[in-house]
Amino acid sequence: MSRPLALLLLLGVPLLWSACGKGSSNRSETGKTSFPAVDTALAVFGKKLFDDRNFGKSGLACSDCHSECDEAVPPLDRIYPGHSIVGAAGRTQAWNGIISGDAMRETAAGTAICAVRFLKKAKSPAEALSHRESKAFLAFFAAISTGKEPDHLAWRALVYPGDTAKTRRNLEQADERVSALTGNAPRGAVLFRNACSSCHGEGKVTGLAPSLSRSVMGRMGRIIRAGKGAMPFFSMDRLSDQDIADIIAHVRSSVQ
Ligand code: HEC
Ligand code: HEC
Repeated sequence: MSRPLALLLLLGVPLLWSACGKGSSNRSETGKTSFPAVDTALAVFGKKLFDDRNFGKSGLACSDCHSECDEAVPPLDRIYPGHSIVGAAGRTQAWNGIISGDAMRETAAGTAICAVRFLKKAKSPAEALSHRESKAFLAFFAAISTGKEPDHLAWRALVYPGDTAKTRRNLEQADERVSALTGNAPRGAVLFRNACSSCHGEGKVTGLAPSLSRSVMGRMGRIIRAGKGAMPFFSMDRLSDQDIADIIAHVRSSVQ
């Protein structure tokens, strides 16, 4: 590698990795990581893919749905539909156990499912990522992880990509729980700003997602829990049933 390029990578890494809030355990201040095996050039490529809205066909980037910060460290007002990818390289399973073993490496710890489902990059996870892209994502995940993260994420799932009957049952029950609650519109306005407006805009059009109309009101709860096309789902630990009831109350009161 040429010296200017090597220098650029060394200087570039701390800058590229500094998107997190103050007090974050992200090692952007020093640029050092506790993963000796990280290939920096590959990790930089992985970070580029992570932010690239043209990586797939839906116009969304990984970074529209996942943070690269330690979520235990405030302040993160924004509520991302997916969990932080910090620690993903060290996990032994993903998608609530649907992916494990060798598939973790091949799918970049579950990334390939998102590439199919949300980025519309390919028809199947096996076609979604090249070998180099998987390695680049894993190198990036490793570069921002401490190695102390849990070996899997226990997100409270309602959606099981491999089990449609279970998913349908979970969603029906969620709909019933949400419609039994009274929504608080002012609280919902804050939640909408933090969880929805990055894609749906707020008065403004972001171009990432359609602005919401009255015609979808009746299906809002289900769409938030199940997703729809490139629209991500929010699991129970991302938004509670009360949060969703509040968001619906806000949208009802503000949408024409
Ligand atoms: C439209 C939103 C969206 C986009 C875009 C998206 N994801 Fe996801 N991703 C999710 C959701 C929702 C889940 C479910 C699990 C969760 O909440 O993290 C998920 C799951 C994952 C997981 C597995 C989490 C586990 O269970 O261990 C990884 C890793 C991941 N995404 C990485 C990526 C990467 C890398 C990209 C870009 C190529 C990407 N995602 C694009 C929403 C998205
Ligand atoms: C990462 C981007 C993203 C986030 C965050 C997001 N959405 Fe969406 N949403 C989309 C996209 C893209 C679509 C269009 C999906 C399609 O039809 O293919 C959509 C569609 C919808 C629809 C259906 C609209 C219609 O006319 O059919 C509703 C309702 C909706 N979103 C509500 C929400 C709410 C409420 C939130 C916050 C809790 C939210 N979305 C967060 C990207 C997002």
